[in-house]
Amino acid sequence: MLEQLKELRLKALNELSRVGELEELESWRIHNLGKRSKLTQVLRSLASLPLEERKKTGALANEVKLALESGLVEKEKSLKETYLASFLGQKGLDITLPGRPIPVGRLHPITQALEEICNVFTRMGFQVTEGPDVEWDYYNFEALNIPPDHPARDMFATLWIDSTETTEKARLLRTHTSPMQIRIMEKERPPIRVIVPGRAYRYEATDVTHESMFYQVEGLAIDTNITLADLKGTLFEFCHGIFGKERKIRFRCDYFPFVEPGVEVAIECLNCHGAGCRLCSHSGWLEILGAGMVHPDVLRRVNIDPEIYSGFAFGMGVERIPMLRYGIDDIRLFYGNELRFLKQF
Ligand code: FA5
Repeated sequence: MLEQLKELRLKALNELSRVGELEELESWRIHNLGKRSKLTQVLRSLASLPLEERKKTGALANEVKLALESGLVEKEKSLKETYLASFLGQKGLDITLPGRPIPVGRLHPITQALEEICNVFTRMGFQVTEGPDVEWDYYNFEALNIPPDHPARDMFATLWIDSTETTEKARLLRTHTSPMQIRIMEKERPPIRVIVPGRAYRYEATDVTHESMFYQVEGLAIDTNITLADLKGTLFEFCHGIFGKERKIRFRCDYFPFVEPGVEVAIECLNCHGAGCRLCSHSGWLEILGAGMVHPDVLRRVNIDPEIYSGFAFGMGVERIPMLRYGIDDIRLFYGNELRFLKQF
């Protein structure tokens, strides 16, 4: 048995010295050290040998096993080194070259603006929710005090989906985020403090401040004792949070059928500092939102008693905020997919 083991070692190491590939090495391992190899059989048969013979044979078998295992490790290392050296030589790889840059994506400037607006309002205790882009005439107009044939429909040039339907069944792409006021008040009871970021669509010619698809953030607060002063305070807090305390804010009357009184907020144009330019249509101001105290008829329609509750609502144009902040003088740049423009934010 001892002779057999010595011979086995000699043969295996001889074969190992001739191995030139990693796959060949694996066959060598299976043949010489695997479960069915001669060496494993010897090790298994040790138990049946007489004590003296078992001691001697066992010691030698272990010695052979160790020799084969360390030979295998050495060979594997040297084969891998040879392979790497030949690979580097063939491909002419220069490991001192700088790596190829992986282009990193970024958030669209409007997504960034939406996040920032939501952060300012959530700090003031507002919750955030979303609603459908495809809306019923009822929510977009009727429930907001704009029945069919009301002249205020002209304020919102509408993209109809099925205008041939009767009014209640007509669907449209919402012209503002205000329909969500109704959807929220139908479900929730006061106190309500919520903002709704989302897209709005209008069938109108585009220009430097108007797009046919744009983003708005709607705000709604309903509770007892909410007054116009709360609306003004909330909107000023928002404008100061976004534009800084120094920027001039204009707060003046406006008309929307679903609020009474209605107001409009404009910010001093950053592009010209009030002197007048293309961005502000030479007025020195850029309107960012419409707002007002929720009309009692709107509250009644959703079974909220206007004798007990009052509230305010606002709807702001999101694109106008980065436009004012960075002096961007054309809204269409946001949706032109021009990477040189988008990469600046
Ligand atoms: C409205 O959409 C009302 N729903 C706002 C409102 C909400 C009033 C709640 C009262 C209570 P208006 O059409 O003015 O109002 O639009 C609001 C803001 O959206 C504008 O100040 C402007 O910043 C932005 N906006 C309107 N039309 C466009 C457009 N075509 N492109 C880009 N921004 C627009």
